[in-house]
Amino acid sequence: MEGVIDADTRALLSADGALDWCVTEFVRVVDARLPPRVFLRHCPELAEAGTAGPLTPTATPVTLQLLGSDPAALAANAEQAITLGATRLDLNFGCPAKMVNRHDGGASLLRTPVRVGRAVAAVAEVAAARGATVSAKLRLGFDDRRVALACALAAEAGGAHELVVHARTRREGYRPPAHWEWVAKIRAAVSAPVVVNGDIWTLEAYWKARTLSGCDDVMLGRGMLADPWLARRIRHWQASGGERLAATPWSARAEVLCHYAARKQAAGMAEKFIVSLLKQWLNIMRGRDAEAAARFTALRRETALAPLLAGLAHPATEPATYPAPTPA
Ligand SMILES: Cc1cc2nc3c(=O)[nH]c(=O)nc-3n(C[C@H](O)[C@H](O)[C@H](O)COP(=O)(O)O)c2cc1C
Repeated sequence: MEGVIDADTRALLSADGALDWCVTEFVRVVDARLPPRVFLRHCPELAEAGTAGPLTPTATPVTLQLLGSDPAALAANAEQAITLGATRLDLNFGCPAKMVNRHDGGASLLRTPVRVGRAVAAVAEVAAARGATVSAKLRLGFDDRRVALACALAAEAGGAHELVVHARTRREGYRPPAHWEWVAKIRAAVSAPVVVNGDIWTLEAYWKARTLSGCDDVMLGRGMLADPWLARRIRHWQASGGERLAATPWSARAEVLCHYAARKQAAGMAEKFIVSLLKQWLNIMRGRDAEAAARFTALRRETALAPLLAGLAHPATEPATYPAPTPA
């Protein structure tokens, strides 16, 4: 997720081993073959990549995402990424940002399914020749859902090994609800595995999204940032036959935020940027957690890092324990 998920976030969120894989922010492809430093900036894990491709410190695979519209440029950059060690590529056809869409990237390609197919085919050809895979990240359409099936079929025909579908059109932005039942229509139309995405904030939403879409797998976005134990919560529920982990206490959330800040400080990031990244993360948490909402209100005008961290770590009313299993 652009501006939110970087290598540090990936390391923190995959630390408990509950994620199957994670994805980089998109690498924006215009026309030229980008230099290695651009790929390494988006995916520092490439520097250590072995035959399994880039991995987080807990060996969770990292998929490298490209965003662009020109098939030749996408293919050239896919080749570059693979040369640098990427083994899993993803193409972004979901970004709703006006600037990106004006330059014919992200969701704008959904208006013309054949272009989705061409972009995927160009990258899939390179990927197949080099032993890598390509997936496609789609929305249900640009303005309306009538193109949803055509886009998914085009991506599959182009050679996508998996489709991840954010269950909204571009016009719907991030407004609830996500139309998980629409993903079921896509699933019925294609043979490639389909992963449902959008508004999976809780265990209950996870189950509802799976039930309505018929998908076996989900992609977690903001929900993982709001509750860094969401994937673990889902896994525990599955493995235990219905036992629920206790709600994530504020202390555990605050610890993740503080670790994130410590990583950024260690990397030499300027304080004002760390402050803004922390507030951005807290902003995503606050909609789902009363304590995070209270902290956000109290700290939203704070511009210095030390008092912000002190305000996050200040003891909450609850005990500082790691979420422990409780009976269903
Ligand atoms: C700030 C932000 C940045 C995002 N950046 C990307 C991105 O770079 N690539 C991508 O495929 N999706 C991106 N997304 C979309 C998410 O991957 C996801 O599809 C969307 O947020 C819906 O899922 P969620 O409700 O679980 O967050 C972004 C979303 C947000 C809120």
